[in-house]
Order: sequence, then structure tokens, then C-alpha cells
Amino acid sequence: MANTDAPAFGIYVHWPFCLSKCPYCDFNSHVRHAAIDEARFTRAFAAEIAATAARVPGRLVSTIFFGGGTPSLMAPETVGAILDAIGRHWTTASDIEVTLEANPTSVEATRFRGYRTAGVNRVSLGVQSLDDGALQQLGRRHSAREALDAVAIARNAFDRYSFDLIYARPGQTSATWAPELKRALAEAGEHLSLYHLTIEPDTPFAALHSSGKLVVPDDDAARDLYDTTQDICARAGLPAYEISNHARPGAECRHNLIYWRSHEYAGIGPGAHGRLDIEGQRHATATEKRPEAWLIRVESLGNGLVTDDVLLRQERADEFLLMGLRLTEGIDLTRYAALAGKPLDPKQIAALAAHGFVVNDGAGRLRVTAAGFPVLDAVVADLAM
Ligand SMILES: C[S@@+](CC[C@H](N)C(=O)[O-])C[C@H]1O[C@@H](n2cnc3c(N)ncnc32)[C@H](O)[C@@H]1O
Ligand code: SF4
Repeated sequence: MANTDAPAFGIYVHWPFCLSKCPYCDFNSHVRHAAIDEARFTRAFAAEIAATAARVPGRLVSTIFFGGGTPSLMAPETVGAILDAIGRHWTTASDIEVTLEANPTSVEATRFRGYRTAGVNRVSLGVQSLDDGALQQLGRRHSAREALDAVAIARNAFDRYSFDLIYARPGQTSATWAPELKRALAEAGEHLSLYHLTIEPDTPFAALHSSGKLVVPDDDAARDLYDTTQDICARAGLPAYEISNHARPGAECRHNLIYWRSHEYAGIGPGAHGRLDIEGQRHATATEKRPEAWLIRVESLGNGLVTDDVLLRQERADEFLLMGLRLTEGIDLTRYAALAGKPLDPKQIAALAAHGFVVNDGAGRLRVTAAGFPVLDAVVADLAM
């Protein structure tokens, strides 16, 4: 395995607009009926990049991720201008990974070629389902056919592409999910993200769920769906490397690995989070979420920061644990001890190992097992006590 503790620096850029709001989604995404002033946003992104680079100069950028919202609504020129601004302030690695999230509704071959020319080299598509009824239920504006056409466009334009599916949907069983997943794997390249449907507070799905109009699979059915997912993907050569992410070995999303391995990243754009190492301290940053308020803040103050907290030693160690245990590679126990100033409690590890939820691999790493992943939150809570 590559050295997971070698420093890496990534940049997350948030585009906060969508054509419509999906009823399950609580991402920072907004619908605007008037045209978006992309030139104004571009200037603000460049200003925030400059302000961040002044705080963390001299970094080698190994990954950039355009997330949303729907970044595939951005003009390729906007993406290019943001990448140019990043290149003016930091050095970019020769093998940089530049990912852009795309919604099948806004995928066109010309636009994708424009992103590639601008410097994007990986796309992640929000397919969500290959079943038209399920897509309708999820409030999506595309059919399964349109989603597969978008996958084909992505495949032609980029060497590296991934797509997202949501499972554990209302009424779903392993008998209906297995063929859908196999069909998806036949279309997949090197990477797939498979998200268990989460009922997020204050969404239309939360209201339907609490009134009993939307019934999701119970714990046993969800466990069955999870096991089916792991089994089918592993057989297809795309094992899980994170609780919701599957890849051919070596084709993992390097940007997301930066989060899960607790490395350093800058958050640019409305509602973006960052983790910056300044004078030996880790800063947790967040920017103003509302797009227009973020613009005004950047235009008047030079950055959109609303949070800039120095993490306490234990907070940093807890975050390392919480993020790192999502990965099948697990965490380096020595790195945990160095961050926390004390090792994890051997009695807690032994108790969880006795239940088969974790393994200490004897080479200094603690990993969550296949039995432990479905109860990951409880495992982390026990260890962090
Ligand atoms: C920012 S969106 C992706 C790109 C684009 N906006 C789209 O929807 O096509 C990130 C992904 O999060 C997943 N997601 C969002 N809300 C979710 C929820 N409540 N439960 C499970 N997955 C969710 C979806 O799979 C979605 O593709
Ligand atoms: S799932 Fe994607 S398209 Fe739908 S509202 Fe969320 S960010 Fe926008």
C-alpha cells in the first residue's frame, strides 16, 4: 500500500446551483430562475483562492474537486478560469487529479470536451438509479436511458469516470437491486459510489417519511442490501475501499482519500469546508453558505470565511478516527497516538475485536471488518470514549 500518511493537499471548489432541488438532498444547492453571473462568481472564486494561498503558501496541489450543487452547469471557461487561478498561486502536481461532478441532465459531449480542455481529467456522474420509476420517485429530471447516455459521453471524454447510485430506496429488495447493480457494473469504469439512502432532516423526504408516506427498508433489509452490494462489487473487481465507494485497486478517488486520511485541503466557494495547517495547528474552516451573501462577503472582505477554528488535540484525533475508519485500509495506530497524545484504549479494541467488528492487523493498523461497517457509528463511538 502507498504511504497513507505522506502529506497531500487538495482543493475543493463548490458550485452551489442546481436546475431543481431533489427531495432527498440536503447539500448546499440552490435553484435560481435568473441567469447566474458566472463572471462575477469567477472573480470571487479567484479572490478566495488568493486569500487562501496567502494563508497556506507553497503547497503542491495533488487534487482538485469541483462539487455541488451541479458543477456541470458551469461554463467550461469558468472551470478553466478557476483552474488558472489555482495554478497562479500554488504549484500543481504533474499527475494532478481534477474531478468534476456532473448531473446527467446537463451533460453534453461538447461541454465535456470543454472541461477536458480546461484541465478536468475525471468526472463523477449522479446517475442515482437505472430504474425509471425509482428516478421519478427520487425527483430526478432524467431517465435511465439519458443517464446511460451521459455515462457513455463521460467514457468517451475521460479516461477516469465514476457514477453514483442510491440504494435502500423505498420498496427495494436485494432481488430488484442485484440486477440493477450488475447492469451498473457493466457500464462502470474503475470507480462507483453506492450511497445508502439517508433521510436528511428538513427535506421533503423527511416529511414524507415521518408521515408514513415514504417507507424505507428496515434494518434487516438494509443489511441484506448492503451485503449484496459488497458481494457483487467485490466479484466484479470493484471492492469497497470506503463504506460507500468501490474501485479497482489503484483507481480510488484521490481527492476523497485526502479527507478520509485527514490530510490538508482548502474549501473554496459558498459553504465549502477546509482543513488548513497553519503554524503547527489545524484550522477547520467554513465559508458562508448562501451564494449571494458569499459573493458580497468575498467582494468586501476578500474571503467568505465564517468559521476558522483551531482544532484541539482530541478533536483532531477524533476526526482522524471517524474519517479513517471509513476506509477498508483503516488507521495507523501510531498516528492516532501522536495526534491524541495517548493511544486508543486496548481494552476497547479487544472488546470490539472479540465481537468481530475490528481487527488489529499486527502491523500497526486498526481496520473495521465487513461485520463492523454496518455499525460503524457505534464502533467509532466506542473507540472514541
Ligand atoms: C452533489 S451530488 C452529485 C452531483 C449532482 N448534483 C447530481 O445529483 O447528479 C452528490 C451525490 O450525493 C448523493 N446523495 C445526495 N443526497 C443523498 C441522500 N439523502 N442519501 C444518499 N445519497 C445522497 C447522490 O448520489 C449524489 O449524486
Ligand atoms: S442531488 Fe444533486 S442535483 Fe439533486 S439537489 Fe442535490 S446536488 Fe442538486
